[in-house]
Amino acid sequence: MATDIETLLEQNRTADLLRFTTAGSVDDGKSTLIGRLLHDSKSIYEDHLEAVQRDSKKLNREIVDLALLTDGLKAEREQGITIDVAYRYFSTPKRRFIIADTPGHEQYTRNMATGASNASLAVILIDAAGGVTTQSKRHGFIASLLAIPHVLVAVNKMDLVDYDQEVYERIHREYADFAARLELKDVTYIPISALEGDNVVERGERMPWYQGLTFLGHLEDVEIGGDRNLIDFRFPVQYVNRPTREFRGYCGQIQSGVLRKGDEIAVLPSGKSSRVERIVTFDGDKDYAHAPQSVTICLEDEIDVSRGDMLVHPRNLPRMDRNIEAMMVWMGEAPMKLNVPYYIKHTSQTVRGTFTDLQYRVDPNQLHRESADILELNEIGRVNLECFRPLIYDESARNRQTGSFIVIDPFTNVTVGAGMIINRAKHRAQLRKASEEAPVSKNIVEEHSFVSRERRNELMRQKPATIWLTGLSGSGKSSIAKGLEERLVAAGHAAYILDGDNVRSGLNRDLGFSATDRSENIRRIAEVAHLFNDAGMIMITSFISPYLEDREQARTVIGDDAFIEVFVNAPLDVCEDRDPKGLYKKARDGQIASFTGVSAPYEAPESAEVTLDTDKLSVDECVDKLLEALRKRGVLGA
Ligand code: ADX
Repeated sequence: MATDIETLLEQNRTADLLRFTTAGSVDDGKSTLIGRLLHDSKSIYEDHLEAVQRDSKKLNREIVDLALLTDGLKAEREQGITIDVAYRYFSTPKRRFIIADTPGHEQYTRNMATGASNASLAVILIDAAGGVTTQSKRHGFIASLLAIPHVLVAVNKMDLVDYDQEVYERIHREYADFAARLELKDVTYIPISALEGDNVVERGERMPWYQGLTFLGHLEDVEIGGDRNLIDFRFPVQYVNRPTREFRGYCGQIQSGVLRKGDEIAVLPSGKSSRVERIVTFDGDKDYAHAPQSVTICLEDEIDVSRGDMLVHPRNLPRMDRNIEAMMVWMGEAPMKLNVPYYIKHTSQTVRGTFTDLQYRVDPNQLHRESADILELNEIGRVNLECFRPLIYDESARNRQTGSFIVIDPFTNVTVGAGMIINRAKHRAQLRKASEEAPVSKNIVEEHSFVSRERRNELMRQKPATIWLTGLSGSGKSSIAKGLEERLVAAGHAAYILDGDNVRSGLNRDLGFSATDRSENIRRIAEVAHLFNDAGMIMITSFISPYLEDREQARTVIGDDAFIEVFVNAPLDVCEDRDPKGLYKKARDGQIASFTGVSAPYEAPESAEVTLDTDKLSVDECVDKLLEALRKRGVLGA
């Protein structure tokens, strides 16, 4: 029943619906607060039941939407998965609310983590008499991991401390100091007494020193319209609806982004494309729809689409990989196990996956990394996860919906963890660390040559550099690389090309095209280019290198002064028209998986040293431009 109501509410919800989670341990007064909220706001829970019955009648006539409605439940039932969160509903004239709540003495992290991908706000309860605890810090940390847009810290039980402003201010300060180190966008503090009712719904008279909104007032007022990602269209297919021969629709919820009738669509993982013919909703056909609406999409072409596939815009592709890294919040009674399969429930698919490594655990008090063998109940850490099938995902910081997953114990069907997918190497500081990462063996001592870099440069009459060409397949990287190499050698320089297809048949023949393998490809190339640079050579690398973070990593390995990033830029359709190796055609026919531009993303450089628009410039013109840039940087000597 709960899920039915939820789905119904989703059908017509906009900013007038706020979902929130509550975190607090048993003693913090969570139940009292919720009770108080429901009581004082004269919650109209029963009215919703009526509404559901009314709407169900209407729905019965709409076969398409009925399928949609029950599907969430169906998916869970089929797999025997239950998510142990109860939802409570109430409303005020201003807004309707859904609280993700766990009954009884359930885990305090559980409701936060499992209800989280949809929650707009997390309530963190702190007992005024007890002060800030490790748990309250842990809750804040989890809220930041889950990228919950708004956090409301309720300092409860003010009645126990005589409504003393000092006590509140001290807790406020202490928690704010901690929260400043987290990536929380909006944190609000309110002193309340759930027991007596002060500042929950009514203001009361015992805390005249507090001028802000009441707890409910804040819930009613907080601005949530802009929280959703409306840029990246992501539609995981829940269900293929084929009631008649003529009708074939793909049902599901738009997780992020906007969709218009006539839009070009790519189906992942196959990479096949089509256009949107119809967008069918609860209230008939629409010209456009956006997250978080549930819709049925009909495509112009009959292509193979099944549950777990994802519809996206072809120019804005998510990532796809079997190997991912994630921050995990563990909430199983039993500790996490390495190398043992769990169910990973991610968007509309459930795949088997094993944790292959726990990189570190995070101490929630200091936010330090600490080494640990395994995660226990309520612990948080960074893991490597290997899935049996690829996940189609975005990093959670960009997209909470496609960036998070839950972990289910296959024997008990209990949710034991929540994961947030992270970029392998997002921040420069982290990058530097990764490149300085220690070798596997501890018994390694570096040798230093007697020949200085200056002597070598003098001998070679050049300053070594790596010209890093990046761009789509068919954008012209190899042609430009060869042209440049020839001109450099003709002018007496020692220059050499590393090219994707060549290196992949030797040094990197063990690597494929998953995000992980591409990353390793680029890492090795960067190391090799660095060595060649050290030997005095000018290096030209010609790799798609589609990921920003991998190129940033290469820049760190090679060194900022030697690294020259060149964006070989041509629109996808131009590259596809050229199709020098016939690979685009194969990719469109579904014969090549994860093909860049078709079914795998290309992240264009944000600040390349040189950009070459190869749809406008000839190869020679591009080479001229590069030579000019090299001259300016002193690469070609005096
Ligand atoms: S990268 O993404 O890891 O940088 P790289 O430049 O080494 O790719 O290799 C790309 C070359 O491999 C392409 O020019 C193409 O010939 C070939 N190739 C084969 N499969 C794929 C694929 N799935 N995606 C892109 N290129 C592919």
